[in-house]
Amino acid sequence: MEHSNCLSLFLFCVYFLCFFLSTQGRWHHHHTKHMHHGHHHKISEISAPPLAAPAPSDPLAPEPSSPPENSDDSTGVFDVRKFGAVGDGVTDDTEAFKMAWDSACQANSSSIIHVPNGFSFMIQSTIFTGPCQGGLVLQVDGTIMPPDGPDVWPKNNSKRQWLVFYRINEMSLQGGGVINGRGQKWWDLPCKPHKGINGTTLPGPCDSPIAIRFFMSSNLTVKGLKVKDSPQFNFRFDGCQNVHVESLHITAPVLSPNTDGIHIENTNGVEIYNSVISNGDDCISIGSGCHDVDIRNLTCGPGSHGISIGSLGNHNSRACVHNITVRDSVIRVADNGVRIKTWQGGSGAVSGVTFSNIHMESVRNPIIIDQFYCLTKNCMNQTSAVYVSDILYEGIKGTYDVRSPPMHFACSDSVPCTNITLSDIELFPAQGDIVSDPFCWNVYGELETLTIPPVSCLLEGVPRSISDNKDTDYC
Ligand SMILES: *[C@@H]1O[C@H](CO)[C@@H](O)[C@H](O)[C@H]1NC(C)=O
Ligand SMILES: *[C@@H]1O[C@H](CO)[C@@H](O)[C@H](O)[C@H]1NC(C)=O
Ligand SMILES: *[C@@H]1O[C@H](CO)[C@@H](O)[C@H](O)[C@H]1NC(C)=O
Ligand SMILES: *[C@@H]1O[C@H](CO)[C@@H](O)[C@H](O)[C@H]1NC(C)=O
Ligand SMILES: *[C@@H]1O[C@H](CO)[C@@H](O)[C@H](O)[C@H]1NC(C)=O
Ligand SMILES: *[C@@H]1O[C@H](CO)[C@@H](O)[C@H](O)[C@H]1NC(C)=O
Ligand SMILES: *[C@@H]1O[C@H](CO)[C@@H](O)[C@H](O)[C@H]1NC(C)=O
Ligand SMILES: *[C@@H]1O[C@H](CO)[C@@H](O)[C@H](O)[C@H]1NC(C)=O
Repeated sequence: MEHSNCLSLFLFCVYFLCFFLSTQGRWHHHHTKHMHHGHHHKISEISAPPLAAPAPSDPLAPEPSSPPENSDDSTGVFDVRKFGAVGDGVTDDTEAFKMAWDSACQANSSSIIHVPNGFSFMIQSTIFTGPCQGGLVLQVDGTIMPPDGPDVWPKNNSKRQWLVFYRINEMSLQGGGVINGRGQKWWDLPCKPHKGINGTTLPGPCDSPIAIRFFMSSNLTVKGLKVKDSPQFNFRFDGCQNVHVESLHITAPVLSPNTDGIHIENTNGVEIYNSVISNGDDCISIGSGCHDVDIRNLTCGPGSHGISIGSLGNHNSRACVHNITVRDSVIRVADNGVRIKTWQGGSGAVSGVTFSNIHMESVRNPIIIDQFYCLTKNCMNQTSAVYVSDILYEGIKGTYDVRSPPMHFACSDSVPCTNITLSDIELFPAQGDIVSDPFCWNVYGELETLTIPPVSCLLEGVPRSISDNKDTDYC
């Protein structure tokens, strides 16, 4: 076949590109040494639109002449079993869920899709698309799970995401049920090294699905559910407005790679309250384009990597994050407490962040700003950086793991961090000797009260590079 050389070259290029793009920036890298620091790094950042962009349902399309048999439109409750879902944990119930979704979505009034208790529904990767006629409640009282691992994942389904809610306004995902991501076989895939017991390196996932993704949606509530063992991120919200998360319980093993609890990106007006997350990565990660985020009464850990803003500024990108509050929370036996991480070469700003009344238990880097985030040894020194300013740490108390200093401020050489305020900080070693030297590099700010351990390395005032560049449009 004449074209085969050309074709295979083309396929090779496509394959190579896909492989490269999907692995770039996704490798765990340990103990990357920059001159200023050498702690554990990881990235939990992928960004991909749905592979098959879902077509929004056409508002002009005729309504089905009659609702499917046995659906109880009059009460506005759509039980998935009435659409043929079996719930034996084996049967593929995807079509039944889609039909229930479509009927509820087209119903005139606000409607409830019910996933009853006592059943276990297996559904494939699905994009549930709006807009719907009215508000929608997906009431999960039973169990929902995907096919068990990559071998049985349908070849033509996206491996990047499992349940996707797209272009929905006013939806509540709630109930006392369980969403079981069956992540183990994904975590075991031999693609990406991650941290094992006693400093060993274990294989980890390649393209693993995010369990639940809300994309370009608004006025969302997620509450009461238990979510466990996601193959990758448990929740991802991107391009959403007004998100209220409450009483969630998210679990994944300590050594499950990239299982961030809740990741938000380009999303604003977010409340995350009264939730418990223990997993193998960040409990909450806040990406670029987020503002007005309020996190309260979160219990994070054991095993997790804390609450992170970032990583931001990868590939010289511009990132804006502002007005973020995390308060009245507990972080225990975690790699990080409250963290801001940015790459060299980025631009934009992180500003107006408050971390208040946070209790730490044996946390490795309770307070950390890292502007030298890097996943390989050879990140180039660059002169631009995401500007970090107006960060308040108040009432951060408890214990730290003495392998790292309890406070670590590594700010860019060219764009220092400014207006960093420390108030009422009391951090003691969980075991062993006090680490008396908090780490500071190019960080300006002030102590409102004396801290334990004492910090004497904050620079006073405003650096010239910032005051001389008042016109810089940071964000
Ligand atoms: C839709 O709902 C509105 C208000 O609830 C009601 O007035 C209207 O009659 C309903 N239309 C149909 C076709 O059911
Ligand atoms: C995947 O393949 C199955 C079987 O060939 C087909 O029925 C289904 O529509 C396909 N799904 C997508 C999203 O293309
Ligand atoms: C890890 O190290 C500890 C202490 O050195 C040892 O007791 C334990 O057996 C090791 N675990 C494994 C799986 O090697
Ligand atoms: C979200 O809800 C508010 C209040 O009901 C409404 O004003 C707003 O338009 C909704 N947002 C979107 C994007 O529809
Ligand atoms: C904090 O959240 C937990 C559940 O994680 C809940 O039991 C507790 O009542 C909440 N506390 C407050 C003050 O709301
Ligand atoms: C900051 O975000 C909170 C919600 O978390 C909001 O109520 C407040 O108005 C925002 N502040 C500003 C200055 O926008
Ligand atoms: C980056 O700069 C530091 C000094 O600020 C220097 O020690 C290091 O070698 C530089 N790295 C590269 C890759 O140029
Ligand atoms: C410093 O940051 C705090 C928030 O932590 C803010 O309220 C204050 O206005 C900032 N000060 C200046 C001079 O920008």
